[in-house]
Amino acid sequence: MNTEVGKDLEKVKVLLDNGSTVAIPTETVYGLAANGRNPEAISKIYLAKQRPLSNPLILHYKDAKAAFNDVLNVPKNAKILAEKFWPGPLTMLLEKKSLVPDAVTAGKPRVAVRVPAHKTCQQLLQKLSYPVAAPSANIYGRISPTCVDHVKDQLNTRIPYILDGGPCSKGIESTIIGFDQEKIMIYRLGSVTIEDILSSTNAEVFYVESDAQIEKAPITSGMVKHHYAPNTPMFSSEDLNTSLDLSNCGYIGFDMLHPDFPTSNQFLLDETGLIDAAASQLYRAFHIMDAKRFKHLYITWLPDKGIGRSINDRIKRAIQKNKP
Ligand code: TXA
Ligand code: MG
Repeated sequence: MNTEVGKDLEKVKVLLDNGSTVAIPTETVYGLAANGRNPEAISKIYLAKQRPLSNPLILHYKDAKAAFNDVLNVPKNAKILAEKFWPGPLTMLLEKKSLVPDAVTAGKPRVAVRVPAHKTCQQLLQKLSYPVAAPSANIYGRISPTCVDHVKDQLNTRIPYILDGGPCSKGIESTIIGFDQEKIMIYRLGSVTIEDILSSTNAEVFYVESDAQIEKAPITSGMVKHHYAPNTPMFSSEDLNTSLDLSNCGYIGFDMLHPDFPTSNQFLLDETGLIDAAASQLYRAFHIMDAKRFKHLYITWLPDKGIGRSINDRIKRAIQKNKP
């Protein structure tokens, strides 16, 4: 199959209406979309991504009304957070109505719903009479794509069309939350921060961090430790042994070059020290530095607050693979 890249929303609509997959931009990462009411179309997502069928998908809606229409019992805090963060990078797990196909939720009782903010994505959703199911548009277990080229690298010839919406402004995936009576559970840290959520409701907020038990039965697969990792072994720069020959090792820093690496082996997430900008560059840095085929990659931690915490979560997962 020839993969075309373009901005033709009418063409994307026809493809989706006819049960095809299409890669679409969102403000977080590119998604691999299909008609969220059509199980056969949804199965093509799993096939193209080589994703296990047990791993459910997020449904993307044009607005909160459409999203809440697909679920039962919308908790008060869900309404408050929707009001504040939609359209935007927040995904909520809510009890699904039966019109949501089991193919979307992998048979689970809750469905993940989100209203993306990306302009082109919104224009597309406004044209459709159904929500779109979309995981990140990468091969299962690889790095999420934050621009058209990343999608092409991984899914070329597997999908008919990539809707070009430019580079993703946020650059890491949405925050995933659920509700347990009055409590808010955060299952995946993302572009909406714990601080953002705490300051919006009076609810108790829990972060369900990955642990051995969750590893066996992840509530969301973002909890699986080895996700989001480049192929090159990656380590924290804290663990750097400076007696090593670093001429064939790479370094991903925040705003400052590392004195021990050749400058040409380094990638700075944001020279001006802006944390949001650093988030938008994280996966780009993983892609670019992975392609250089260094022996090892080292990466710095970011300040552990706000979106820095979400970035550190992704770094932790990327280096976890190399821990004994
Ligand atoms: O920013 C994002 O969330 C991007 C853009 C494209 O929207 N999407 C994304 O999708 O990151 P994906 O599939 O790569 O990650 C979604 C996570 C997965 O770990 C999946 O297991 C979990 O959400 N998930 C989806 N539906 C779920 C459900 N019903 N119950 C539990 N976990 C669910
Ligand atoms: Mg993903």
